[in-house]
Amino acid sequence: MMLSYFTALGLLAGAALAVNPVVMKGADFVDSTTNNRVMVIGVDYQPGGQSGYDPGSGVDPLSNGTVCLRDAALMQDLGLNTIRVYNVDPDLNHDQCASIFNEVGIYMIVDVNSPLGGESIDRSNPSGSYTASYLNRTFAVVEAFKGYPNTMAFFAGNEIINDVPTSKANPPYIRAVQRDLKNYIAKHSSRSIPVGYSAADVREVLQDTWAYLQCAIDGNDKDVSRSDFFGLNSYSWCGDQATFQSAGYDALVSMFSATTIPVFFSEYGCNTPSPRVFNEVQALYGPQMTTLSGGLVYEFTQETSNFGLINVNDNGTASLLVDYDNLQSQMSKLNVTLLQSSNASQTQAQPPACSSGVVSSSQFGANFTLPSTPSGAQDLINNGLSNPQQGKVVQVSSTQVPMSVYATNGSQIEGLAIKPLQGNQANTPNQAGTSGGSASNTPAPKHSGATGLASHMPGVFLVGLFSCIIVLVL
Ligand SMILES: *[C@@H]1O[C@H](CO)[C@@H](O)[C@H](O)[C@H]1NC(C)=O
Ligand SMILES: *[C@@H]1O[C@H](CO)[C@@H](O)[C@H](O)[C@H]1NC(C)=O
Ligand SMILES: *[C@@H]1O[C@H](CO)[C@@H](O)[C@H](O)[C@H]1NC(C)=O
Ligand SMILES: *[C@@H]1O[C@H](CO)[C@@H](O)[C@H](O)[C@H]1NC(C)=O
Ligand SMILES: *[C@@H]1O[C@H](CO)[C@@H](O)[C@H](O)[C@H]1NC(C)=O
Ligand SMILES: *[C@@H]1O[C@H](CO)[C@@H](O)[C@H](O)[C@H]1NC(C)=O
Ligand SMILES: *[C@@H]1O[C@H](CO)[C@@H](O)[C@H](O)[C@H]1NC(C)=O
Repeated sequence: MMLSYFTALGLLAGAALAVNPVVMKGADFVDSTTNNRVMVIGVDYQPGGQSGYDPGSGVDPLSNGTVCLRDAALMQDLGLNTIRVYNVDPDLNHDQCASIFNEVGIYMIVDVNSPLGGESIDRSNPSGSYTASYLNRTFAVVEAFKGYPNTMAFFAGNEIINDVPTSKANPPYIRAVQRDLKNYIAKHSSRSIPVGYSAADVREVLQDTWAYLQCAIDGNDKDVSRSDFFGLNSYSWCGDQATFQSAGYDALVSMFSATTIPVFFSEYGCNTPSPRVFNEVQALYGPQMTTLSGGLVYEFTQETSNFGLINVNDNGTASLLVDYDNLQSQMSKLNVTLLQSSNASQTQAQPPACSSGVVSSSQFGANFTLPSTPSGAQDLINNGLSNPQQGKVVQVSSTQVPMSVYATNGSQIEGLAIKPLQGNQANTPNQAGTSGGSASNTPAPKHSGATGLASHMPGVFLVGLFSCIIVLVL
């Protein structure tokens, strides 16, 4: 009896809060319930750095709920609504971390690859690395993350083209992996989850890469090999003197003005000079750049490459860096009402039909005859993985951050905690002058029947309600 009581309670409370899944409409990400446009206001999250990924260790960036609690509290304070996570181990349990981010209204964009051999397309040997065993790993990542409502999207590839020579043979492999992932998701996920690509800023072939990936083969808009969105890793805005023109943001806006899929910065934040002032935030979310859907700052934790917002100290505490304060001050100047009220496209845009004419560089291999799915991988698509690790939202056991976090002036931050959001909303930047205002400027929840009611109520209230029912039954 007690067991089933707690099980039921856990299920109910666990379902108490969930962000509305994101869908694509035309060139926008859109909240599937409110139809508001969703701008990506995010950060790249890879504590331990790329070299920190070690599948034998039992640890990845989303495996330790205590660490995620600390980082989610800080990201909520920064006003972020999205993280990108590279290098996850699909065999680990990510329930606590994913649920914590879900409760504070932070979406996750997950890379299905890792830098280890056999776990990504090798850009110098695409045909040799496009194997059933590689795809097996990518499907395992889908299985691990498809059950979380805040899984916003998957990156099928990152910088598989990283110079002009690699734009020759590699493009069809990007589309092939997208096709396989989307076929897997269509068959084995209860909701559709967008799949796209994260591009290096190789200006000679950037427009070609986007054009090659967004078009529909045979003009068929059901073509699953096309990208659902296009991420650009962009480091061209350097220092507080940079401008919309000098950073070339004007060129990007004009390059992507006819996009039929969302385009956003999958990494941004040039770090010379340092500390960063992040005044590109005002340009990125301003009226001149509504073509783009926002971006992700590279990156949350300080690693050897020096892009961090916080430093994780050896004794398990963390210290905010000046970049953290500077980013927060820029975020607090954004007009969230304006960002959310900008009209989202309400229809799918018709993608252009693929033809060699969509690209302009003679060096770019615009081959639309894709490599066929390895037969072992086609079996996995048809039948699903056997006994995969599948994530699910769970009750978050604690809101208080247990470890010390120090502000930039060295003093310890008191009472650091996550503030679960009501009403299935994404987190938003605090307006200037307020602190922890995310919950207070959240619109009133919309109710939609019995399940909707349960899903909009705070867990604490439900626990009380449910206890009463149990007592009555007993
Ligand atoms: C997929 O991975 C599982 C678990 O690691 C393994 O048992 C299976 O043989 C793999 N299948 C293929 C086709 O690589
Ligand atoms: C942990 O390390 C940081 C950085 O070295 C230091 O500032 C802080 O005082 C230490 N905290 C504890 C509790 O030892
Ligand atoms: C999670 O991280 C905390 C803080 O670094 C550490 O004390 C704890 O041992 C970790 N938990 C696990 C299960 O690794
Ligand atoms: C933010 O944008 C909204 C909608 O356009 C507008 O009504 C409001 O005045 C703006 N707020 C500020 C502080 O500019
Ligand atoms: C949104 O679309 C409506 C109807 O097309 C239009 O009247 C309104 O001005 C638009 N609002 C914005 C902020 O573009
Ligand atoms: C295009 O890719 C297909 C499949 O990998 C291959 O058979 C064909 O030779 C390629 N075409 C060109 C022109 O490279
Ligand atoms: C240090 O910074 C924190 C956070 O900005 C602030 O609340 C606190 O008052 C500051 N402490 C001192 C001694 O300046």
